[in-house]
Amino acid sequence: MNEKILVLDFGSQYTQLIARKIRECGVFAEIHPFNISIDEIKKLSPKGIVLSGGPSSVYDDNSPHPDKNIFELNIPILGICYGLQLITNYFGGKVDKAAKREYGRAKFKIFKRVPLFDEIPEESTVWMSHSDRVEEIPKGFEILGTTENSISAIYNKEKEIYGLQFHPEVHHTEFGKKILENFVRKICRCEENWNAKSFIETQVETIKNKVGNEEVILALSGGVDSTVCAVLMHKAIGEQLHCIHIDTGLMRLNESQQVVSLFKQHFHIPIKLIEAEEIFLTRLKNITDPEAKRKIIGQTFIELFEQEASKFKNAKWLVQGTLYPDVIESTTVKGPSATIKSHHNVGGLPEKMNLKIIEPLRELFKDEVRKVGLELGVPNWFIERHPFPGPGLAIRVIGEVNKERLEILRKADAIFIEEIQKANLYNEIWQAFAVLLPVKTVGVMGDERTYENVCALRAVSSIDGMTADWFKIPYEILDRTANRIINEVIGINRVVYDITSKPPGTIEWE
Ligand code: XMP
Repeated sequence: MNEKILVLDFGSQYTQLIARKIRECGVFAEIHPFNISIDEIKKLSPKGIVLSGGPSSVYDDNSPHPDKNIFELNIPILGICYGLQLITNYFGGKVDKAAKREYGRAKFKIFKRVPLFDEIPEESTVWMSHSDRVEEIPKGFEILGTTENSISAIYNKEKEIYGLQFHPEVHHTEFGKKILENFVRKICRCEENWNAKSFIETQVETIKNKVGNEEVILALSGGVDSTVCAVLMHKAIGEQLHCIHIDTGLMRLNESQQVVSLFKQHFHIPIKLIEAEEIFLTRLKNITDPEAKRKIIGQTFIELFEQEASKFKNAKWLVQGTLYPDVIESTTVKGPSATIKSHHNVGGLPEKMNLKIIEPLRELFKDEVRKVGLELGVPNWFIERHPFPGPGLAIRVIGEVNKERLEILRKADAIFIEEIQKANLYNEIWQAFAVLLPVKTVGVMGDERTYENVCALRAVSSIDGMTADWFKIPYEILDRTANRIINEVIGINRVVYDITSKPPGTIEWE
């Protein structure tokens, strides 16, 4: 990838959005920690730099500051919120605590036209979230626009340095995306050449060069990321790629068969299926603690995968479906966040396997992976599938997991999904699934008393799975789903709907 924009992260909750919005304009953007050294920046040779917002005040003792030499690189710089305050402070202007914190929508008025504001009306709505503000602009800078309470846009013509008090990356800023597009296309003069097709072309070349004629193995979970990885790798290296799919017995109804047939029939990519239901269920016997379940599943998965992988004697590489947010998480300045659940991902495969790691999706956000998948011919229904946790249905059968309970859950889950699809709600919902509770209740069917299991239905809307709202499924659909489950699934005689959001709940029940 030749042209890029660097986004320096000063801790704003919106930093990722800046990179995403720039990429949506067809220009590649990469996030780095605020303290990246000038030498590293030079190596990356960006065409422009964006300084993100952040929670600090520039005068705080420990406030984050970038390497000052970035202002001497002779490339355009855009500071957003805290980024603007850094610029003001560095060039000798004055930043002060605003008398009142400005949060939410504000009217922005342009009073000097520069290319940053091309095609943007004199007055528009912007999104503010700050307490400090610019009181005095530095020498050599001009004011470009204001809101009622603050100087909201400044620039230095000679150095091509811009600062905005509001957040153009946030959806509520009416012309925010246009402002970012003007910055990267007109001011940084980047070509519009970042898209799924160009990504695939460059990656295919990169993978070929990296791997040469060595062999590669890949654990195919059946999720979107590993599937897209596999198709991309196969495009690059063909038969040097060996895909292994482990059927843990904890998958949704017919899921493993679907994955195998997608690969064999649709893509003509060989895939080795390992039927491992028995070993997983044996090891899960009598286990009820959620964390214990996760650990057993994770370890068993790794063990089986290592066994299979070792049969490919010439394999030198292991593919991992790491995505960009995982990369940023591990490098950027983040406060310590407690582990609420230990997530089992195929990505956790151990170093001791002595394989080199290749991560073809590490530059991408999830929505970009989907676009790449579509471009590679992965069917739409597969790309749009709801996320599915690594430990599978084991964490949706609450309490002890066994084959019988898994079968009951699979049937109920399939009915729920079918009804949501029929109602055209599937794509609006982040995740919908059934949970089988270890609780029996009394019911009556026909003239018979029943004493069977309770099934809970869960559906949430979310952007990234970090927070979620319970989804307001219309009553008729809940009604039909509950009726069908009770009538069609032997073993369930009561259905309840989960109305907990996240936080305080998590999406999964275990
Ligand atoms: P929670 O339940 O923590 O879930 O609110 C957030 C998202 O993560 C998924 N999830 C997992 N994904 N391995 C995964 O790959 C796991 O162990 C795991 N646990 C939860 C969950 O389905 C939701 O999308």
